[in-house]
Amino acid sequence: MKELQIQTSVKVYSYDELEPELARLVDMAKAKTQDAYCPYSHFHVGAAALLADGQVITGANQENAAYPSGLCAERVTLFAANANHPNTPVVALALACYTHGHFTREVASPCGACRQVMLETETRFATPMKVILYCEEGCYVFDKASDLLPLCFAAGNLEG
Ligand code: THU
Repeated sequence: MKELQIQTSVKVYSYDELEPELARLVDMAKAKTQDAYCPYSHFHVGAAALLADGQVITGANQENAAYPSGLCAERVTLFAANANHPNTPVVALALACYTHGHFTREVASPCGACRQVMLETETRFATPMKVILYCEEGCYVFDKASDLLPLCFAAGNLEG
């Protein structure tokens, strides 16, 4: 038996320490929380994806009376970005969550399904995608989506 240690890395910045382009992306994710359709959870998630050409695609979670038919903000946003700009890498994705009248105080991490979709976006363009998680205590910055999903299943695994 051998035990492997799997390491990942996240940097926590204050909002003021973010480079201006990422701070603007966080602002857009925060604003987009107000467009969430979340009458069941009242948990508003906003996302903003920065493309390599400077365009920003935003999205918010979309719930459904048939609960599993809804979709998280991350996937709404990345699918829209990838469907409309299939040849343009996504270089950063900012997320913010708002509930009970305020942005979440502690970090809320993306669900597993969204991490898998983030990884696919990063893999298909072979370009690192920063992920910025905004909360009141700071901005958690992952340099690449794969840092959120160690020991992942990706395209390369299909080769056997
Ligand atoms: N949600 C997201 O949009 N992203 C996540 O990563 C986790 C959860 C949404 C789904 C649902 O509309 C609400 O938050 C509560 O789970």
